[in-house]
Amino acid sequence: MNKIVVLTGAGVSAESGISTFRDAGGLWEGHDVMEVASPEGWRRNPALVLNFYNQRRRQLKEVEPNAAHFALVELEKRYEVSIITQNVDDLHERAGSSRVIHLHGELRKVRSTRNPGLIYEWTEDINVGDTCELGSQLRPHIVWFGEAVPMIELAAEEASIADAVIIIGTSMQVYPAAGLVGFADQAERIFYVDPKPAINYELSRIPGLSVFAERATSGVRKVVDELMGLA
Ligand code: OAD
Repeated sequence: MNKIVVLTGAGVSAESGISTFRDAGGLWEGHDVMEVASPEGWRRNPALVLNFYNQRRRQLKEVEPNAAHFALVELEKRYEVSIITQNVDDLHERAGSSRVIHLHGELRKVRSTRNPGLIYEWTEDINVGDTCELGSQLRPHIVWFGEAVPMIELAAEEASIADAVIIIGTSMQVYPAAGLVGFADQAERIFYVDPKPAINYELSRIPGLSVFAERATSGVRKVVDELMGLA
């Protein structure tokens, strides 16, 4: 076994203090998704959308990676590890993971609304009137509902050569991310760590799926110990 692909969702960052989307009290309970996370919402009210992501970006300064993020880094001592995350936070990078693919974008990047290739590092608020070098409004570097997911092909390639897959803290509802495990034809082991595991179509077709129905900090520790031969 050589290559491990880790698919993470909001649950891996929950114990760092970042709200998930669909749990009780989650972000989508307090916000209308289509108002803050769609191209239509952006056209209707850019200030509202910027404010939503500004709050999320500010929060990144107050949170730290947790034991689950750190445990995943340990795997790199023995395996080639790719983290494919739906999260827009930077906690995997800050924990020390060396290969992180962000499917849904990154809070600490912004991009031009005229040329999507113009992407900038950005740690502060984005305001109406902040522009790219072409003079057009900057927007969050986030994949909104209804937009293409540019990293999905790379992610599917990674999944297709994985010897083991670890899925952590995702409700497995949002496609195409939730379908990636369906590409992991070669994987000898597939683990799923989530206190409320959601067995979607792709997971239901995996014989011998190892489910850890618990929080990321405890469940990921067990999976990593097993893969490192420590359990
Ligand atoms: P969800 O909010 O849909 O699901 C969070 C998952 O984390 C649930 O299955 C919870 O049971 C689990 N969870 C909660 N606490 C946990 C803990 N301590 N440890 C482990 N798991 C825990 O979040 P995602 O599946 O990540 O997209 O959502 C997918 C996408 O939907 C997001 O990337 C976002 C959202 O709309 C965009 O904004 C584009």
